[in-house]
Formats: sequence, C-alpha cells, structure tokens
Amino acid sequence: MAPDSTPAPHRPLPKAELHLHIEGTLEPELAFALAARNGVTLPYATEDELRRAYSFNDLQSFLNLYYALMEVLRTEDDFADLAHAYLARAKEQGVRHAEIFFDPQAHTSRGVPLGTVVNGLSRALDTAPETYGITTGLIMCFLRDESADSALETFEAARPYLDRITAVGLDSAEVGHPPAKFREVFALAREAGLKCVAHAGEEGPAAYVWEALDVLGVDRIDHGVRCMEDGALVARLVADRVPLTVCPLSNLRLRVVDDLADHPLPAMLDAGLLVTVNSDDPAYFGGYADDNFTAVRDALGLDEAALRTLARNSFLASFLDEGTRAAYLKELDAH
Ligand code: HPA
Ligand code: ZN
Repeated sequence: MAPDSTPAPHRPLPKAELHLHIEGTLEPELAFALAARNGVTLPYATEDELRRAYSFNDLQSFLNLYYALMEVLRTEDDFADLAHAYLARAKEQGVRHAEIFFDPQAHTSRGVPLGTVVNGLSRALDTAPETYGITTGLIMCFLRDESADSALETFEAARPYLDRITAVGLDSAEVGHPPAKFREVFALAREAGLKCVAHAGEEGPAAYVWEALDVLGVDRIDHGVRCMEDGALVARLVADRVPLTVCPLSNLRLRVVDDLADHPLPAMLDAGLLVTVNSDDPAYFGGYADDNFTAVRDALGLDEAALRTLARNSFLASFLDEGTRAAYLKELDAH
C-alpha cells in the first residue's frame, strides 16, 4: 500500500479565551443577515466591500467600524445568534472555556435595552457546555470614553443581572481616559463580589497599568503589552502573578506592533509574566483563538513547550472554580 502522505490534522490545544469582545465576532455574513432581518441598511453594498474596510491605522479607526456595525444587533435573537456563531468557531479552535466581554452602553445608547443584550447572550451561553463543550463567563465592560456617571448608571441598571456576570471590564479608546476615572464604579463592582479587569497598556502608557492595579484593584490586565517599557511594573506583575491577556493579531492589525516578528510576547514569557494569547475581535483581526497561537508560533518561533505554557496560563488566569480548572489542566496535560 502506498504510504499515506496526508498530514496529520492540526489538533488545537485545549485553551481558555479570556479576551474576546462578543461584538467583535460579528462576521460580515451575519452582519448582512441581521441587517436584512431588521431592515437596517449598511453603508456597504456587499460582504466583500465590507471586508475591504477592515484596514485599520490604530484603535480608533477600528472602533469606528466596530460601533457602526453594531447597528444590526437589535433583538434577543440577534445576540443569541451572535454568541452561537462565536461558540461554534471557538469549539473548532480548542476553546474549552471563554470569558466573554460585552459593551452594554454601545447598545443601550441605541435604544436596545440591557435585558435584551444579557438575555440574548445568556440563551446561547447557557447551552454552551452541552452544545459546544465550552464553559463560559460574561464580563460587562464600561466604555472609557464615556463618562464615569454613565458607567455608574450602567452598573446600577445591571444589578438585576449580576448573577449572570462574572466581572466588570474597561474598554474602548484608551489614550486620554485613564483607569482612575472609573474608581467609583469598580469599587461598587468589587463590593458586589464581581471580579475586575481593565484594558490598559495597549495604546496607553505603562502608567495606566499601574493605575488599573492600584486604583481599580483589577484581577487581570487586558493587553498590557506596554508594561515592557517599565521594569518596576514588570516586577510587580510577576510578583503578584497578575495575568495579561495579550492579543497578537489585534496588536498587528491595530499597529501596536509593526510586524508580528517584533511582538514582545517572547520577552514577556521570558520575564516570567503570566501571559495568555487571545483573539480580541476575531472577525476584524483575521483570526480566532487558535489562529493567534499559530500566528505567534510561525512569526516568533515559539516551540511546543511555549505554546503549552500559554494554554496552561489561560486556565490559570481564568476565573474558573478550582475543580473545573484542575480538570481542564489535566485535559491539557493529556493532549
Ligand atoms: N481595545 C479597546 N477597546 C476595544 C477593543 C480593544 O482592543 N476591542 C473592542 N473594544
Ligand atoms: Zn479588547
């Protein structure tokens, strides 16, 4: 018999995804389907034309399109369909646990009630263990370019839904909107027993990472790549085992790095940081969770041991209970 030359299929490592904006998983196909369903006219004639708009200079140029496309998300069904589409892809990428961001203010400001968003997402997430083999958490993010009062109002409006929310986060345009602006709402969230995370050190300076730690008391930093500019900060993050949810393809597409080969991920691992790899807004940045693993393997020469460390870190950095965490780590070791 002729030797079988078919390459072994890629079996993605089991992993947790901890930095994923559900609105950033809106693929052009679904955007057009929801636009038709809801009678919304998109400013693009075709899916290809929309895809051609996915060329960004910085965070803001991406956010402009990200918020514009959300116009198609109107009903509970829309949010449920969005989450189902993500979960189906995440399963193929080896994701076993996902802690999923959503941006309530981006919807309530358009007249979509918070209950519509949370109930729609919950409908999909509640089925995820059985349907996709994925456990989930929800992280409610405040838009940092909106006011502190708006964040406080959002938090109060969310009180009836807090049993479905694992953590609060902070996202959107970073520069000029330091974490300390949100001191009060993060204190309320901690009092209510929620975990806290914040985007910091993506486009903003290392000083914003210090503030997120010292003023907001966050449990994780999202992105945080600019911590590498501050040795004392790296020492603090290592000493306190503060996880960083790094998003390599996002950093490339938003020009946080010019070339993936220049990404600080290997230096971050060498420094002993608890770094994880995530997809951020995969519909816009050209790759889901495992695509990011493959991209850093190829561009940075990370070996199998380093990729396993990243997958291991993702479970260690998650907000899972200890029993489930241990089960996933065992599954990773057996892979
Ligand atoms: N940074 C800040 N805000 C965001 C991002 C991001 O990468 N993605 C969606 N909202
Ligand atoms: Zn993000």
